[in-house]
Amino acid sequence: MNRPLSVLAALAVAVLAAAHFTFEAMGQQTRGKDRPPPVPKATFREDVLPVLKGRCMDCHSPGNAGFEASGLDLRSYEGLMKGTKFGPMVVARDPESSNLMLLLDGRADPKIRMPHGAKRLSVCDRDAIRQWIREGALNN
Ligand code: HEC
Repeated sequence: MNRPLSVLAALAVAVLAAAHFTFEAMGQQTRGKDRPPPVPKATFREDVLPVLKGRCMDCHSPGNAGFEASGLDLRSYEGLMKGTKFGPMVVARDPESSNLMLLLDGRADPKIRMPHGAKRLSVCDRDAIRQWIREGALNN
């Protein structure tokens, strides 16, 4: 290799190494102990409640068919987490075991798919609820 080229090559190696260490240092900073908790991808207030309001609440509130038959009150976080008179419908962090997802995905008996006798929720809405459960089903 002639001189100028090898100097250039050495320079390039030095620059790359410096960049590598800088990125590593930045990474360590964000990986530190006092890193803020990860921002949730789905929240109860923004992703779940509007769906319950629009698609479920008319039946799942006192005096209406869904609530009277199952005891499930979908007007609030507390109501959703309490579940039906037979028990909880949401298992935090485990959407696959949550009966709520079973009904919403249409994997249950057609007679009890929800919303009752109406169009299934969009994939988008169902995935947002699934994500919210996966992230801990928090009152957020
Ligand atoms: C048109 C009225 C109606 C709507 C709308 C409706 N439900 Fe229901 N829901 C019912 C009735 C009636 C029952 C009880 C009888 C049954 O299980 O079929 C019920 C039962 C349930 C149950 C309990 C099932 C079980 O295994 O005991 C869940 C969970 C549920 N609904 C969730 C929802 C959700 C979530 C929505 C909105 C996406 C919704 N429902 C919308 C009428 C409704």
